[in-house]
Amino acid sequence: MSQSLENIVENLSPRHWYTVGPLTDIPRLGSRVVHHHGLPIAIFRTASDTVFAVLDQCPHKKGPLSQGIVHGESVSCPLHGWIIQLDTGEAMAPDHGCTHTFKTRVEEGIVSVELSGAAA
Ligand code: FES
Repeated sequence: MSQSLENIVENLSPRHWYTVGPLTDIPRLGSRVVHHHGLPIAIFRTASDTVFAVLDQCPHKKGPLSQGIVHGESVSCPLHGWIIQLDTGEAMAPDHGCTHTFKTRVEEGIVSVELSGAAA
């Protein structure tokens, strides 16, 4: 039986920072997708240059969140419009569900994402 992406995330070890690249390579109110061990991870940049990373799968029916519209610190899924909070991965009411989040950091203009078993 194949592992779910969530299980793969949980089993990643050891914990480490993965360099994504320059912040300026991610458009404001846009995203960039990186793949790590088969995991699609969407890196979002808000209008105020805050960076978030979430598994690029909507908790509804796995829509590609990276192709959604960013507003504030949320993204609207391109498939059915669920709104996902980028800091927690939680769907906003009345919808219910959560996608995996990853810690991010920006040092000297370079974005990194922490890959570990623990959700941010
Ligand atoms: S797959 Fe995202 S709202 Fe349905």
